[in-house]
Amino acid sequence: MQYTEKVMDHFKNPRNVGEIKDASGVGEVGNPVCGDMMTFYVKIEDNIVKDVKFKTFGCGAAIAVSSIVTEMAIGKTIDEALKITKAMVAQELDGLPPNKMHCSNLGADALHKAIEDYLNKQKKG
Ligand code: FES
Repeated sequence: MQYTEKVMDHFKNPRNVGEIKDASGVGEVGNPVCGDMMTFYVKIEDNIVKDVKFKTFGCGAAIAVSSIVTEMAIGKTIDEALKITKAMVAQELDGLPPNKMHCSNLGADALHKAIEDYLNKQKKG
């Protein structure tokens, strides 16, 4: 299976690349098999994901996944963003080759981790 046009678009022109200096939460994930790494930064205000940025050191699919996940998460409530699954990510990209499905996993995981980091900080006060 080839990459879809949407994957190629997000790979060539990734949205929301970078870092949020005063991020509400940061999530880092890696895949020990391929060695790819992904860091997500979230800005949360009044229970809404206001901004998401990412830094990904990985394959083309991982970059496209990171980019689309930022677009999917921005504007959502925390609960909605936590419900974003790898299947939704792959669907949003009009599909990923089967051997690249783990890349979509990383994107959802990194987002969830960044939000959980924020929630943990809130608990600690
Ligand atoms: Fe591992 Fe894509 S090959 S994240």
